[in-house]
Amino acid sequence: MVKCIGVLTSGGDAPGMNAAIRAVTRTCLNNGIEVYGVRLGYKGLYEGDFIKFDSNSTRNYLNVGGTFLKSARFPEFKDIEVRKQAIEQMKKVGMEALVVIGGDGSYNGALRLTEMGVNCIGIPGTIDNDIPDTDFTIGFDTALNTIVDTLDKLRDTSGSHQRCSILEVMGRRCGDLAIYAGLACGAEMIITSATGFDENAVVEHMKKAKTGQKKHAIIVITEHITDVHSLAKKIEEETGFETRANVLGHMQRGGSPTAQDRVLATRMGIHAVNLLMEGKGGLCMSTVKGEIVGLPIAEVLSHKRKVDYDLYEEAVGLRVYDKVGVR
Ligand code: ADP
Ligand code: F6P
Repeated sequence: MVKCIGVLTSGGDAPGMNAAIRAVTRTCLNNGIEVYGVRLGYKGLYEGDFIKFDSNSTRNYLNVGGTFLKSARFPEFKDIEVRKQAIEQMKKVGMEALVVIGGDGSYNGALRLTEMGVNCIGIPGTIDNDIPDTDFTIGFDTALNTIVDTLDKLRDTSGSHQRCSILEVMGRRCGDLAIYAGLACGAEMIITSATGFDENAVVEHMKKAKTGQKKHAIIVITEHITDVHSLAKKIEEETGFETRANVLGHMQRGGSPTAQDRVLATRMGIHAVNLLMEGKGGLCMSTVKGEIVGLPIAEVLSHKRKVDYDLYEEAVGLRVYDKVGVR
């Protein structure tokens, strides 16, 4: 049976990563397995930046955002020689297996290491909810609630001044943060890569909204779609609707994890260690209809994340868009 496991966080941090580290650590210690925290993701693995954990090591981190192990982007890890060096560092302390908490990029690293003989289990830690085959990723719920809080505040000022407010949220290419937040806050429009973006259609929609006696409006849009400041200018010029644009940025990646994220992280952390104890590797934790399962990383990475079109159809039903670009 595995005697020593490492745990690291990699890629963009997400609230709930600490809860996952804690669950991995406790499950190891409760089963007589040594556990090391690896600082700074794969960079720390390569440099041998390890901390031997005991039962005090993860105390008081359950409710803390970010990752106390720190995270890093370390593209050098794609190089097999760098990975060989990392495996040498693991051997020095007897580390036989690894739990990798991160996004799909980090999963790639975990898969490569497993192929080189080191069992790895991935845990989906990213606010973007962009990992295929899992209903939710750790950090998504917290980021969503931060966005909802922001949108509620925007609504106050937007309503008071009878303005249109645009909020750009994160997600990379995934529109989940925007669609969930938009529905939760009664946005006038939600724009994501799944809806497509047609500036003229947005302007037309806002014209109709204004003539329909709309006094204020909220538009939620995923990052990397358009320049929201230019969009605000265009809406204002063409519809007479005074418009302000806001980019929420990295604030939505921080903060104390919600109960939902803490529980998800805890369950996934426990299951990840159980899988390593069974001698398994190359798997990642997913939640499928509430159940925690281990799926092959290679398969998950080969899938495209499914867009929840039902959610978009429901938004269409609320006239959030006039079927602009959906599907
Ligand atoms: P995320 O895990 O959030 O998607 P990144 O895409 O930046 O974030 O990936 C995190 C890290 O995973 C990278 O900095 C790199 O160290 C490692 N990684 C990404 N892709 C690969 C790959 N193809 N092979 C090995 N390691 C990889
Ligand atoms: O993957 C998480 C995420 O916050 C994305 O939503 C965003 O596009 C990206 O990371 C930002 O990365 P960085 O922190 O490197 O600017």
